[in-house]
Amino acid sequence: MKTTKICCIGAGYVGGPTMAVIAQKCPNIKVTVVDINESRINAWNDADLNKLPVFEPGLDSIVKEARGRNLFFSTDVDTAIDEADMIFISVNTPTKTYGKGKGMAADLKYIELCARQIAKVAKENKIVVEKSTLPVRTASAIKNILDHTGNGVKFQILSNPEFLAEGTAVQDLLKPDRVLIGGDTSEEGEQAIKALVDIYANWVPKDKILTTNVWSSELSKLTANAFLAQRVSSINAMSVICEKTGADIKEVSKAIGMDSRIGPKFLKASVGFGGSCFQKDILNLVYIAKSYGLNEVADYWEQVILMNDHQKNRFSDNIVRTLYNTVSGKKIAFLGWAFKKDTNDTRESAAIKVADNLLNEQAHVAVYDPKVKEEQIYADMDYLNSRHSVENRALLKVNSDPYEVCKDAHAIAVLTEWDEFNTYDWQNIYENMQKPAFVFDGRGLLNHKELEEIGFIYYKIGRGTKV
Ligand code: UDX
Ligand code: ADP
Repeated sequence: MKTTKICCIGAGYVGGPTMAVIAQKCPNIKVTVVDINESRINAWNDADLNKLPVFEPGLDSIVKEARGRNLFFSTDVDTAIDEADMIFISVNTPTKTYGKGKGMAADLKYIELCARQIAKVAKENKIVVEKSTLPVRTASAIKNILDHTGNGVKFQILSNPEFLAEGTAVQDLLKPDRVLIGGDTSEEGEQAIKALVDIYANWVPKDKILTTNVWSSELSKLTANAFLAQRVSSINAMSVICEKTGADIKEVSKAIGMDSRIGPKFLKASVGFGGSCFQKDILNLVYIAKSYGLNEVADYWEQVILMNDHQKNRFSDNIVRTLYNTVSGKKIAFLGWAFKKDTNDTRESAAIKVADNLLNEQAHVAVYDPKVKEEQIYADMDYLNSRHSVENRALLKVNSDPYEVCKDAHAIAVLTEWDEFNTYDWQNIYENMQKPAFVFDGRGLLNHKELEEIGFIYYKIGRGTKV
């Protein structure tokens, strides 16, 4: 069966870029991305490509090429489902905030709503592809809903988790390490797998397209994220020891990364990992382990999160301690708010927790981020519900000029590794700050020699002060 029309439910950080690349690489397939969020769809359709809701290097030119040709963004979910041979589900699966599994399990209500809508609308056989990261065995729940609430048509469920990282989404999609497709082994299941393989084969070498059973595919995505997050927590745990002993985490990372069994990636010490996936997926894994009575397994993975929380808290504690045990009324400048560079996404960003801790100490925080909007920063703070939103706006200010943000500050905290921070006139920044002028580099980004020569007191995560 040749796929001619696909639709994707969910026009977010995963659905949007993924479908844009499929549309660019498969001009003969009509790709419609739908979302219930009208303003998001309007932004995807905006003539000004700087207004796309997702910032990713290279995404604008792909959207420019494919949009209106075979790539469409719409709020008309029913029509898109009705037309499509293959439907990708790429909606959000946040951590549950209520009921059983609160704070751990994935909330599958958006997935279920999608499944019910597909079942209601579909009048012909469809392939349904799970793109969102889901707990293992979700496919059986989706299949149940589809089979029991549908119009008697047949559904094949595939799992096709997306491994792109934000900030490098376009490159990751164009040249993936692998594409993973899980399906069932019936004849129809194999036909469905083949239909999806044929789409990716338009640009991905066949030997990088891996097919497995559905459960392996679902669990592999959680496993990959757990392993990656574990590396970050492991290196962050060592950064604490470095600071105590005079070792330097950059040197340690380099030394261990040259061991081919360990490899060099994901060994950058930081103020803590963020992003929509790591914390959520590990909590989900912990919940799955607990629900099978595997408490030791659950504890093992939970430690990755606890280490990450510690890394964020100790960063803000260090600022308070260094500034003579009080930051009350002092201005702390934040460079960066996004959870990593080259994205406007702030979900679970370490900056949010660090800011919250400092506001609890009555600091005045001023934030600059090259891509994150002011409303988003306030929304992140308000979401924590630690204090009234009026107070958040009184204590935390956002400015689009980094020099203004640093002016009269007692300390600068680097929260995101944006390249542009290294191009600043640090002499000028120093002259306009309160003295002594402190820099707390949560990303090990800046040139410590240059900063120390200017006169800054410079703290870098994972660099020992003992010699
Ligand atoms: C991650 C996975 O990499 C991706 O495969 C999956 O599809 C989604 O989750 P993402 O969250 O977009 O992607 O970004 P990633 O590059 O993995 O970074 C996650 C967090 O870890 C960021 O806050 C980053 O700053 C931090 N990190 C990463 C480190 O602190 N040190 C490192 O060495 C690497
Ligand atoms: P991700 O990072 O996984 O892409 P996002 O939160 O950025 O997650 O995107 C998920 C998108 O899915 C949101 O834009 C949300 O509005 C959309 N969405 C959630 N439920 C539905 C639904 N039932 N129908 C259409 N879109 C939905």
